[in-house]
Amino acid sequence: MDEEFNPKIIAFCCNWCSYAGADLAGVSRFQYPPNIRIIRVMCSGRVDLSFVIEALRQGADGVLVTGCHPNDCHYIDGNKSAALRAEFFTEFLEEIGIEPERFRLEWIAGSEGEKFARVINKMVEDVRALGPIRSDDK
Ligand code: FES
Repeated sequence: MDEEFNPKIIAFCCNWCSYAGADLAGVSRFQYPPNIRIIRVMCSGRVDLSFVIEALRQGADGVLVTGCHPNDCHYIDGNKSAALRAEFFTEFLEEIGIEPERFRLEWIAGSEGEKFARVINKMVEDVRALGPIRSDDK
């Protein structure tokens, strides 16, 4: 009998908005799978390529970065840097043979607990469809 693949997702959440959104999702009891591990960062712009690579190297099947909506970044334009980097991360992953869909950047406000849950559900579903990143995880 085949067991359903449960992807491991690492989510880097900015302290000021999306981490609060994650908290609100929990407090509001919005359902999302327990496949996600949250790492709080001060700003989405803090996440560089080494964070993404290290997460994948340590067994994550997907990496999500969440930050404040455009013009709401507490460090003025950290999320704009994150958006630029996300394009690069996606191209880089594709270049090294990793499906770019394993990486995602989303803007989630502190008031968007429902959106947080929806983003996690969708990401888990999409990465589950891709399968494990490493063949020895099957
Ligand atoms: Fe949230 Fe910059 S402080 S994205």
